[in-house]
Amino acid sequence: MKWNAELYDDKHSFVSQYGESVLELLAVKAGERILDLGCGTGDLANQMSELGADVVGIDASPEMIATARQKYPYIKFEIANAVDFDFDEPFDAVFSNATLHWIKDADAVIKNVYNNLKPNGCFVGEFGGKGNMQHMIAATKTILGKYGYNKLEQADPWYFPSTAEYATKLEAQGFRVTYTTHFDRPTLLQDGRQGVAKWLYMFGPSFFEGIPDVELKQILNEITDLLESDYEDNGQWYADYKRLRFIAIKE
Ligand code: BEZ
Repeated sequence: MKWNAELYDDKHSFVSQYGESVLELLAVKAGERILDLGCGTGDLANQMSELGADVVGIDASPEMIATARQKYPYIKFEIANAVDFDFDEPFDAVFSNATLHWIKDADAVIKNVYNNLKPNGCFVGEFGGKGNMQHMIAATKTILGKYGYNKLEQADPWYFPSTAEYATKLEAQGFRVTYTTHFDRPTLLQDGRQGVAKWLYMFGPSFFEGIPDVELKQILNEITDLLESDYEDNGQWYADYKRLRFIAIKE
């Protein structure tokens, strides 16, 4: 997927703002070598760097890495994929915010993180948990189905596991899971009613590939109508985010 890094920073900066509280779970210590897995435009990597860590940020998106390098030229950023990155020197910690739900092969990511950590190294993350955005996804599939677009399983790019499922995978790889939680985080959409279409344009374009513009406009309108009773509250629209957080130690 091609990312619009400018739009991401402008309208979706809540992603890294929420990530600040996940950083507290990591309790960064000066001098630690930390990998930010899925660093986006680099804001959280920069915060870790300001705390004295030796940070490397990786992201699969060249657009995100180009912006991160521009914003924070003193931090090392590289284009790399979560399932096959490999560094000569292992890390004290791997941190990941709002990225792991983009990779369906969770076992491959967990294995790769494990292989790139020092013994007793720490893997800390937050991403979409079971039921994340379920109203948005259900409304999208319902309306697309109504218009005859039914091949939706391969269009759905996300992996939203339960705590039990993800902890089981971490343990199977050799991690000790010291903390995990799953919670609701209703998230304000910018621009009210328009926010639904904007979110879907930014994060879910794979659902709409090949649909002519006029029809797409109508489809997005109907998805928005369907979501109104769940999303609208006093003129503000809130998306049904659900987060999964964890701390896992390499044994
Ligand atoms: C999330 O942060 O939960 C998320 C973001 C974009 C697409 C899907 C989920």
